[in-house]
Amino acid sequence: MDKWTFPTQIYAGSDSLNRLTEFNNESILIICDPFLKDSPSLTYVMGLMDNKNEVSIYTDVVPDPPISHVAKGIEYMQGIKPSIIIAIGGGSCIDMSKGIAYFGRKLKHMNIKSFIAIPTTSGTGSEVTSFAVLTDSETKIKYPLVDDAVLPDEALLTPLFVKTSPPGVTAYSGMDVLVHALEAYVATAANNFTDALAQQAIELVFEYLPKCHKTTATDQDRMSMHEASCLAGLSFNKAGLGIVHAMAHQLGGQFHVPHGLANSMLLPYVIAFNCSHNPEVAKKYADLSAKLGFASYESSEEKKLGAFLEAIIKLQRTLECPMTLTDFGIDKATAEEKLNLMADRALEDMCYRFNPYPANRNDLIKLYRNVL
Ligand SMILES: NC(=O)c1ccc[n+]([C@@H]2O[C@H](COP(=O)([O-])OP(=O)(O)OC[C@H]3O[C@@H](n4cnc5c(N)ncnc54)[C@H](O)[C@@H]3O)[C@@H](O)[C@H]2O)c1
Ligand SMILES: [Fe+2]
Repeated sequence: MDKWTFPTQIYAGSDSLNRLTEFNNESILIICDPFLKDSPSLTYVMGLMDNKNEVSIYTDVVPDPPISHVAKGIEYMQGIKPSIIIAIGGGSCIDMSKGIAYFGRKLKHMNIKSFIAIPTTSGTGSEVTSFAVLTDSETKIKYPLVDDAVLPDEALLTPLFVKTSPPGVTAYSGMDVLVHALEAYVATAANNFTDALAQQAIELVFEYLPKCHKTTATDQDRMSMHEASCLAGLSFNKAGLGIVHAMAHQLGGQFHVPHGLANSMLLPYVIAFNCSHNPEVAKKYADLSAKLGFASYESSEEKKLGAFLEAIIKLQRTLECPMTLTDFGIDKATAEEKLNLMADRALEDMCYRFNPYPANRNDLIKLYRNVL
């Protein structure tokens, strides 16, 4: 028997922030991405809150949140004793807040009634996942804290904050959405439900991510990418991911390559690798390629897969994603020195076990070499 629930309540649309008007007499801690500090958007959020609430704002958030930052946040929270925690930011901010809320709920003198996530990137889907990816700064390892108890109680999806997202953040976080959906689509725990969510996310990404990357993006374009991100999050939270993520986590931990970009670099090589080792995966991606209109239904499986990879690479080029670590400014020899270590750690990453083919250490090293 397979039990599956979506515990997070999702409010979606331009008016979803109105949910915040419903709180009063609460102690509210807003953990907020630094880009929002002193911004009109944050002033707008503050204006929505009843002034009978006591509101504190905490902005000590950094990308790839280190465990030490979570500890500092917990200390701050204990001085506030919030009844409601609201995370407003990218995946890093939401993950750090998940850690803070998770440990806060374990402390007897705290009573956190609700933990709300408001994503400002269309990327991680963290607002609906049971993961919080935290970094051990000493070992440079990214550890996912995995527990349903880290799931936000509510997620508010609004295009308001993503509008300020610079093209690079839009591109990399958007590629993260695509990788979540494409890995979940063939992951070992995938089923018809997760496939439906992943497929819709993939369609939306190919249509709306190039639009969101342009200055002419509309609220509707932004909202469609935001929903794609959430759909992909719901899918991979159940289906699992794979070796793109297992390997990308090491590039993030070692070299601070933005998460979505690290995934983007590895994606075409891992798809080709998984297809060559698992015929079911090849068939599934080939069928998807035809469904998405990249190849005709009559063409051979090989042609369909070729067209699928071409479509991914075309998207990466449109979004101006660096294709290799060298393109991103990381010295090849420095990266080469870390290959064995990264492969060993990728084998231990929890995403590894959901890959549809058990790649070995040499396979992972070869795959890394493609993106040096
Ligand atoms: N919990 C999960 O399920 C999950 C899934 C995938 C990835 N992750 C983790 O999430 C992190 C990546 O999150 P991300 O891709 O959202 O990036 P991020 O949160 O690290 O943000 C990247 C940068 O963009 C800025 N930013 C965010 N939103 C912005 C906006 N609207 N306008 C202007 N600037 C903005 C941030 O301040 C930051 O400098 C990684 O640590 C990754 O490992 C978590
Ligand atoms: Fe991701």
